[in-house]
Amino acid sequence: MATRRDFLKSSMMASTGILTASRLLTDGGLGNVEAAPLQPATETVAIRLRVNGQNYGLRLDPRTSLLDLLREKLDLPGTKKGCNHGQCGACTILVDGRRLNSCLALAVIYDGSEITTIEGLAKGDELHPLQAAFVRHEGFQCGYCTPGQICSAVGMINEVDQGTVSHVTENVRSIGNVAFTDDEIRERMSGNICRCGAYPGIVAAIRDVTQQSSPRGV
Ligand code: FES
Ligand code: FES
Repeated sequence: MATRRDFLKSSMMASTGILTASRLLTDGGLGNVEAAPLQPATETVAIRLRVNGQNYGLRLDPRTSLLDLLREKLDLPGTKKGCNHGQCGACTILVDGRRLNSCLALAVIYDGSEITTIEGLAKGDELHPLQAAFVRHEGFQCGYCTPGQICSAVGMINEVDQGTVSHVTENVRSIGNVAFTDDEIRERMSGNICRCGAYPGIVAAIRDVTQQSSPRGV
């Protein structure tokens, strides 16, 4: 005859079996396992870069992004990692004068390029005109997106100066003569997200610089 002890024992086994099965269904029985660390590359690649006026000869894991290279190997943490998926613009830098999301860029592709980060914009103690304008117009709050905003604005001004039109340009045939309206600024900066919502100050800072006659880009 089955005793109370036998009943409890079989119940425990059954419930343990159910838990084990459900755990296998939800996480493969592994629990909260961290993603496996990236194994070191068996082969590295040699590249040369010029970053903020300084020449570098580097040997890299070919999977290294420009963002990780700048932050982790070249000690330039001014460029920020936000989404790491090309969606926020926090990692924007300038490569050969053009803006680029460095989180999506494999460094080896840019062998021989000239790179400018937020650390390379000021001339000594003299801020770049856009940096000074962001301060004047309070174009930031926490500041996390600001290096990307400023690098992006430098690249954007270069693009307009070279005559590119945008989705909101009224006359797309007026190549080389695009007016810097607030709509143009907002449209062209729409890839740079500010979680603090400092957009009025950002637009005001860029507008201020675009109305100056002195050199604006890099
Ligand atoms: S960190 Fe590169 S776009 Fe967000
Ligand atoms: S100033 Fe905080 S995210 Fe833009």
